[in-house]
Amino acid sequence: MQHDMALQALEKPIPALTLTADPLGPVKCSPALAARRLDDLVAFIDRFFMDDLGFTTPRDTARDLTDFFAALPRNPARDAKAGATGDGPNLWLHLTVRRIQPTLCVESGTWVGRSLYTTRVAAPDAAMHAFDITFKRLKFRDPAITLHEQDFSQSDVRCAANDVGFIYFDDHINNGRRIAQAHARGFRHLVFDQCVPAGQVQLFRFPGLPTALMIARREMQPGDTLEWTWRGEHVRYTFDPAHTHGAESLIDLAVPFPSLEPWLGLPPGQGAYVRLKP
Ligand SMILES: C[S@@+](CC[C@H](N)C(=O)[O-])C[C@H]1O[C@@H](n2cnc3c(N)ncnc32)[C@H](O)[C@@H]1O
Repeated sequence: MQHDMALQALEKPIPALTLTADPLGPVKCSPALAARRLDDLVAFIDRFFMDDLGFTTPRDTARDLTDFFAALPRNPARDAKAGATGDGPNLWLHLTVRRIQPTLCVESGTWVGRSLYTTRVAAPDAAMHAFDITFKRLKFRDPAITLHEQDFSQSDVRCAANDVGFIYFDDHINNGRRIAQAHARGFRHLVFDQCVPAGQVQLFRFPGLPTALMIARREMQPGDTLEWTWRGEHVRYTFDPAHTHGAESLIDLAVPFPSLEPWLGLPPGQGAYVRLKP
């Protein structure tokens, strides 16, 4: 029988990887291909910030990406996987902070500090405040970051008129409550972790319900109930309009971060950018 070469798989086993030119993902590419993939990734990120989030100031996104990946191995909390913000959502955090150029950054839900390090790298000169119920597990510390062992709502941290303020909420508290508190303190730019629509609550045990996406999309009506199973435990949430704390009238924009997995191989997480009305 004639052997048809065209039907054979074209990949070849090799004893070891030799291509190291592409720092962006698990697949190593030859230099020209790596450069084209980077251009494509940069264009995708720029389009997202411009078309979906309305940021018009040009940025050197390739530089922002390079900075993120250069700093990543030095994150002292990177090995603490459980409960910490992963590399994929941290990349969106980094890119978003670079777009906003905040002078004041707040994080609520600091745990080991894996995301706190990310924000510090993205905004090295911004004033920073971190909130958690305990800092016993914190692995990244910076004397220039003020630590608060209290709830954000009980602090006097405010965004002054001449500040550009940013808050990363990773504390799984009701997003409507957090939006109302952030707005009352003069903040406009927020990122929420675990910010899913109703159909994805089953990914988590304690998402901050109702999430900013549910509120912005007006997904829930009074009395609507969600039930799901988290690691064998059944959980129920019943929506009450009081749970939004009026956030629906404060949100200008709420957009989930898209996946960059086709370029980077990193799971994106379920983060969302939320812009508040002035
Ligand atoms: C998912 S972890 C945060 C992970 C962190 N962003 C990181 O990358 O390491 C959630 C954190 O929220 C904290 N938390 C719970 N209630 C809080 C509250 N009311 N204010 C601030 N943090 C709170 C928990 O103690 C926990 O450390």
